[in-house]
Amino acid sequence: MTKTFIRPIAMVSAFLLSGMAAQAEGLLMPDFDAELGRGLYASKGCVVCHSVNGIGGIDAPALDYDPSQGPMNPFDFAAKMWRGAETMIYMQQDELGDQIEITGPELAAIIAFAHDAEEQAKFSMDDVPEAIADMLHEADDEHEDEEADGDHDDVPDSEEGHD
Ligand code: HEC
Repeated sequence: MTKTFIRPIAMVSAFLLSGMAAQAEGLLMPDFDAELGRGLYASKGCVVCHSVNGIGGIDAPALDYDPSQGPMNPFDFAAKMWRGAETMIYMQQDELGDQIEITGPELAAIIAFAHDAEEQAKFSMDDVPEAIADMLHEADDEHEDEEADGDHDDVPDSEEGHD
């Protein structure tokens, strides 16, 4: 009796607090921790192919947040990853040696980072672990070979503004 009374109240409060559509009772929404996501985006290796704030690989679309697009449904981000999955996984095996392993909460944090202009502005090479930075440079070197860069300087292709 009390249970049937309390449950609807709990659902309505959750709805009011989250400002989002009511969710099924079997679901638990993760924390969207953008600061944690900044670290994971680098340590998981997304940065090897995707750039944010001008830092990162040039093999894949940049993941800079454009506030003019307005708020985004996080599942649309996951759906985009799903759409690009075949190419992405193939390239991960090639460039990182294996497919990146991520959990739901980790992905939620990365998605939060991908939609937080303030956190993105803080993103720098200091966030990138050495092993990942090495892969980033290897990928850049490959591009220099492919593109016959010519100037043979130490500036990675990704920073020279050509495409
Ligand atoms: C080895 C390279 C590589 C790595 C590492 C990688 N991606 Fe990708 N990603 C790609 C490529 C290439 C595409 C484009 C695929 C396509 O268009 O078919 C892509 C597409 C995407 C897209 C869709 C972009 C769009 O605008 O449609 C998202 C989102 C994305 N990746 C997120 C991530 C996240 C998050 C990580 C880290 C967990 C990651 N990627 C790691 C190569 C990579």
